[in-house]
Amino acid sequence: MAICYQAPVKPICVRPTTTFSSTPRRQSLRCNLSVPIRTLVSEPEPVLTSVKAFAPATVANLGPGFDFLGCAVDGLGDFVSLSVDPNVHPGRISIAHITGDASGKLSKNPNWNCAGIAAIEVMKMLGIRSVGLSLSLHKGLPLGSGLGSSAASAAAAAVAVNEIFGGRLRPEELVLAGLKSEERVSGYHADNVAPAIMGGFILIRNYEPLELMRLNFPAEKDLFFVLVSPDFEAPTKKMRAALPGEIGMAHHVWNCSQAGALVASVLQGDLVGLGKALSSDKIVEPRRAPLIPGMEAVKKAAIEAGAFGCTISGAGPTAVAVVESEEKGEMVGERMVEAFWKEGSLKAVKAVKKLDRVGARLVS
Ligand code: HSE
Repeated sequence: MAICYQAPVKPICVRPTTTFSSTPRRQSLRCNLSVPIRTLVSEPEPVLTSVKAFAPATVANLGPGFDFLGCAVDGLGDFVSLSVDPNVHPGRISIAHITGDASGKLSKNPNWNCAGIAAIEVMKMLGIRSVGLSLSLHKGLPLGSGLGSSAASAAAAAVAVNEIFGGRLRPEELVLAGLKSEERVSGYHADNVAPAIMGGFILIRNYEPLELMRLNFPAEKDLFFVLVSPDFEAPTKKMRAALPGEIGMAHHVWNCSQAGALVASVLQGDLVGLGKALSSDKIVEPRRAPLIPGMEAVKKAAIEAGAFGCTISGAGPTAVAVVESEEKGEMVGERMVEAFWKEGSLKAVKAVKKLDRVGARLVS
């Protein structure tokens, strides 16, 4: 899937193209509508009988970027297999299998499953009425981990449906479908699902209409994320409920300046600046960290061990630190795991991963 964004910070504003018919009510793609925004002139036929898609884990917020900045990480994620199924009612989707869900909490009702919701949205956008689909979800990510688990399922499903019908929708339209799913299960935020679909660092400049900016981290530079996940569940809805409704001017100024520095550091490939900004949130992290046993000590341990910065990944409980090499990442991760155990009495697992620059894609 080609994503032709040449300039590092060029806005991608979601608008209809001439291949679609649009009614006056549907002049622009808005993210808060429950109906398909664009209607295809004719219903597309499947170009493949089955596909398998992968979508990566994501780190949202990155400190001061609450709800507007996130990035994808390599090597962790969810898989969706999708096939045309004559036994499924035309225009509908059925969830056949769910594997890898240790919690056993995921529903096979597509209206209550992240992958199902996103798949249904993409089918609506494409105007699919004549073909039924069967979906299988393999979870590589634990639920409520802070690694964009729901977004990865939604992203893989959205890409799978789009590709089985010839890939007519653009990535930012798939983000809208994923956003529908996020809204239902965790909250209206695109900072997981946008990078899960598009890869790299994505800034959400606007939600109405959805406007995304890709921030290109220099290709020649390396960046490693140390992801330490304790055995503790932090449901996004609960962690969002802990946040203040209003903030003071001093915190607004501080967080805006740190977010600006974070964006500049990403574009420059400046790991020191990135880590410093990542660690600097004075609005969200201070409310959430006390809800995750040991988190404050984990952050301290990461920085003492030489990480450039550390914060909560998404809504938590995973802690994320940034370092310049895999070797350093392993060492920093060890200290973070120890701190979760010592200060929070929580067992934790670590992973050291690179930036994923590709996003959701077909794997077969
Ligand atoms: N921005 C969202 C939050 C991300 O922090 O609530 C959730 O993964």
